[in-house]
Amino acid sequence: MKEARAQRLRRLRRRIHFLLDSGGVGDRTAGIVHSALVTLVILSIAAVVFESDSAMAARFGPLFAAVECIAVAAFSIEYALRFWSAPDHTLFAEMRPLQARLAFAASTSAIVDLAAILPAFLSVFLGADLRILLILRLARFFKLARYSPGIRSIVTVLETERRALFASGVVLFGVVLFMAAAMYVVERDAQPEAFRSIPAAMWWAIQTIATVGYGDVTPITPAGRIVAAVAMVMGFVMLGLPVGIVATAFAEEIHRRDFVVTWSMVAKAPLFSALDASAIADIMRYLRAQSLPAGALVVRRGEPAHSMYFIAAGEVDVELPEGPVRLGEGQFFGEIALLRKTSRSANVRAATPIKLLVLDAYDLHIFTQRNPEVGRQIEAIAASRAEFRPRPGDGDLIEAEIDDRDIASREAAP
Ligand code: CMP
Repeated sequence: MKEARAQRLRRLRRRIHFLLDSGGVGDRTAGIVHSALVTLVILSIAAVVFESDSAMAARFGPLFAAVECIAVAAFSIEYALRFWSAPDHTLFAEMRPLQARLAFAASTSAIVDLAAILPAFLSVFLGADLRILLILRLARFFKLARYSPGIRSIVTVLETERRALFASGVVLFGVVLFMAAAMYVVERDAQPEAFRSIPAAMWWAIQTIATVGYGDVTPITPAGRIVAAVAMVMGFVMLGLPVGIVATAFAEEIHRRDFVVTWSMVAKAPLFSALDASAIADIMRYLRAQSLPAGALVVRRGEPAHSMYFIAAGEVDVELPEGPVRLGEGQFFGEIALLRKTSRSANVRAATPIKLLVLDAYDLHIFTQRNPEVGRQIEAIAASRAEFRPRPGDGDLIEAEIDDRDIASREAAP
């Protein structure tokens, strides 16, 4: 009785994790949750921004307050649910529940989530609406990063290129310093107020190198103008450097993430090799590209299934109790749970960096109806793999129960 309740709770936790973290792909409810959260983030940011205009605040004050109340309530529930369901997150899959929750709480996205609700609680506890809280309320803007692959790509780029960016920042600072010092030397006598010290001259140097040039401080001596001309030219070079680093890395990241699904990639899969040109063109419309680094968990045992995967490049390990089975280019996985309408029967992990072609359950259904031979082949391979599966001592437990039993033993471990 107690065990049945615990199992129900674990299934609920897994479902909640899926609804919040699947990105709305392949499931209607998850799609609705995803869109509702994004809409709420946008509405609450709009409310904070327009509330700063006193005429708007006087007219729509109650509406802004209502939006804020709903947003804080929804984001608080979201945070609590994410915290609770953290053990089901692929990143924390190998941790104990408490460890997984703490790891979640320390992650950047969880800190952003907390920042989104903190101002409301702080203003209740402190009893005052501090200005700084306004900036914190806008921090919820960064919640959008979780829902946008594009923003995530930029964050990844900034992270991977941090050394190059830091180096160009240091060089930039050096140029500002030298230009300010040169200007201090040549202009100090002519303009003792504006160039009274190197830090004061740095204000001029930063404006000039950044090509802003407010014009509040300008050189008046010939030597000062020569220094200024050098600073302007250096400015172009110095600013071009970080822009170039980020732009190149961003283009590479986008290409890596959403590589183009090519004809040869699809035709290379033995399953599709017998198809004629129109059927290959048909399946290409349904396939989505996904790139993952080595070690990433693609499919997690016990999770609900929404797609199957074809390996366009790289290798994966299907982690079976008997030992890992390696699948490579042209092979597929994730079909058993789709065909049997059960949860995933095994973990599948990237053994090398991989490029996958993802086919959603609904599209698989449509495609195999149009190409029954492909359907039969997938069914035959799924049957032979499933046959390989029974474990001694598993008796007649269904997959979900086996999985619950695994999780229960992980959670019970000290
Ligand atoms: P699915 O159950 O959806 O998710 C895990 C996948 O691992 C499964 O589909 C199969 O595609 C794959 N798999 C399971 N057992 C085997 C096996 N014995 N050999 C190769 N692949 C397997």
